[in-house]
Amino acid sequence: MHFHKYEKIWLVFGICSLIIFLSVVGVGAFGHDHQPSGGMDTIDPEKISETPPFDQPGVRKLDDGTYEAAIVAMAFGYEPKEIKVPVGSKVVFKVTSKDVIHSFSIIDTNVNMMVVPGHITTKEHTFTEPGSYLVICNEYCGTAHHLMSTTIEVVNE
Ligand code: CUA
Repeated sequence: MHFHKYEKIWLVFGICSLIIFLSVVGVGAFGHDHQPSGGMDTIDPEKISETPPFDQPGVRKLDDGTYEAAIVAMAFGYEPKEIKVPVGSKVVFKVTSKDVIHSFSIIDTNVNMMVVPGHITTKEHTFTEPGSYLVICNEYCGTAHHLMSTTIEVVNE
């Protein structure tokens, strides 16, 4: 097979750019110890109902003004049914899935967690305004995906 000289130059240029690009991305990611934004925790999806804190989904007080919300996502809803916290609280959401990929996206906040079976996704949020916050699933998960939602009640104490 015969390559034209310009073709060879372009091939070498293309391969070198690819190597440089992948090295920059690779060194950046490994060198700075990048991790998925929701954390690296894992869980056996078949043992969710026996694994704390998901054996008792709900909101727990950690200390003054800080709460942990353990939430299990499934087709097509979330456990617990009710999530209620006082205004001003910092809530550490820990979410996992029993079946397929879902999301836990709180409207009008920057909480938009991907919920993957086998993984525990963690994200903190401080609720500074009272109200009823709508939570929806952003990942297509089946025929009733559009019905998958819940609310977080942020109340004045
Ligand atoms: Cu769960 Cu879409």
